[in-house]
Amino acid sequence: MIGVALTPPGPSCKAMTMPNSIPNPGTDWRAASTPELVAHLVAHHHAYARQALTHLEAQLETAVKEQGGRPSPLGQVTVFFRELQQDLLAHFAMEEGNLFPAIVAMMDGGPAPIALSTPRELLLTIEAEHQTVEELFLNIRMVTADYELPPEPAPGLDSLYQGFLDLEDDLHRHLYLENHVLYPRVLGQGLA
Ligand SMILES: [Fe+2]
Ligand SMILES: [Fe+2]
Repeated sequence: MIGVALTPPGPSCKAMTMPNSIPNPGTDWRAASTPELVAHLVAHHHAYARQALTHLEAQLETAVKEQGGRPSPLGQVTVFFRELQQDLLAHFAMEEGNLFPAIVAMMDGGPAPIALSTPRELLLTIEAEHQTVEELFLNIRMVTADYELPPEPAPGLDSLYQGFLDLEDDLHRHLYLENHVLYPRVLGQGLA
């Protein structure tokens, strides 16, 4: 049995304590049961990303105000960030509300709580959404020249860029577990 540490909610950005980006670092999640893996994805990766998005939103708003007349890519970053935030929050809601409960119920041999008439198509949609997220991060990297700080950065810009790097890093682990561990397991069970 693999223990899953729940992440306490962080309602305000200032009071927020970001969770450890690598919980249980020695854990091989490929060996975890499907309910354990799903619980880990939700309790750590979804919670981490939600907190990080809230934090980044506030940091980005401040950085835009602080940039003054300096030339800056933050206008473009804001456009990509808004799309990233909207896409990720909708994606998590769909996984938590529909897909994950269905996977756990079906792997357990019980009836799925939703009708998965075309689960393979649903999984293809999920993978396409993951790819969109990765492309948005690539766009942010492109307009910031890989998060390169200007000679005279606005206050807080280094922390903002580090926040994007941390979220991107956690999302890579998150999407890897879904694309290469959880969903192949579902497909391997003949459920799709
Ligand atoms: Fe997810
Ligand atoms: Fe996902």
